[in-house]
Amino acid sequence: MKSFLQDVNLGLGKKNKKLSSKWFYDFHGSKIFEQITRLKEYYPTRTEIKILKDNKIEIAKRIGKSAVLIEPGAGDIKKIGIFLSSLDEPKKYIPLDISEDYITKISKGFRKKYPKVAITPKGYDFSKNNKLPFKINSSENVTIFFPGSTIGNFDSKDAVKFLKKLKSKFKAKKIIVGVDLIKDIPTLISAYNDKKGITAKFNKNILKRINTELGGDINLNYYKHLAIYNKSKKRIEMRLKSIKKNNIKINGSKYLIKKNEEIHTENSHKYTVKSFKKLANQAGWKIGKTWVDDKKLFSVHCLDLSS
Ligand SMILES: C[S@@+](CC[C@H](N)C(=O)[O-])C[C@H]1O[C@@H](n2cnc3c(N)ncnc32)[C@H](O)[C@@H]1O
Repeated sequence: MKSFLQDVNLGLGKKNKKLSSKWFYDFHGSKIFEQITRLKEYYPTRTEIKILKDNKIEIAKRIGKSAVLIEPGAGDIKKIGIFLSSLDEPKKYIPLDISEDYITKISKGFRKKYPKVAITPKGYDFSKNNKLPFKINSSENVTIFFPGSTIGNFDSKDAVKFLKKLKSKFKAKKIIVGVDLIKDIPTLISAYNDKKGITAKFNKNILKRINTELGGDINLNYYKHLAIYNKSKKRIEMRLKSIKKNNIKINGSKYLIKKNEEIHTENSHKYTVKSFKKLANQAGWKIGKTWVDDKKLFSVHCLDLSS
């Protein structure tokens, strides 16, 4: 937990306070995210699932034979199952997630369903430059599956770096990536600020973790969940706004949080098909194919190596 503490101290020590969205996800946070995916307001999951289902045969053809599938930030691993049975003799499936207990537990049932595929879940933080927790043979047909618009959590510079890393370090030959599209602002905002308050609970899970794992004394009732659309940066920003002045102590460090001060906890960048193509090209990938739903809410792209 050293890196969690370091990150929290660094983020809360800044003038514009921020915490990385990766810390939402412990076992409990991953379960809350599962609930979010089922919300009426949260269109990305059901839309992406429909795109994957409608195009599973073509997706499988594009991936090709003997695939080694790696899914960074795999979460509840529900989406890979949509096209796994359509693939030609897939060899391995490696779901990776920062939420290690969760991915390990959730993969157990999956193994029974696909006995012919070697399924090896691993805890792994893809935002760092850590050694991969598995061996890769560069002659293998490595395909990265990166759904859920997790790419949107990076700013564009880091997204390019990440896509480059998938080529250089993961030896990927193809990437199937889900990307949320720019759309009307009310639809975007309500997806991140649902009526039942599930996303608010998810946002506050970061504070809860600070208390339970780092010995913090934050009063969660002093913080309000905010989701705003930053038009110029084309992203939803989630923040926690303090409703009153309060002091917090975390493992020996003290912070004064002013009334109305905000802690920025997540960015979720939105793209057009064109702007995502530009980003992929910058990272050395070309778009082999793009699938979009009828309402133009969400996109799935197959990226191929450009050289
Ligand atoms: C937006 S959710 C998407 C989950 C799933 N892929 C889907 O499509 O529904 C992001 C997932 O990435 C994981 N995650 C976030 N940051 C991560 C990081 N730095 N390293 C590894 N996993 C991370 C989370 O635990 C979560 O499962």
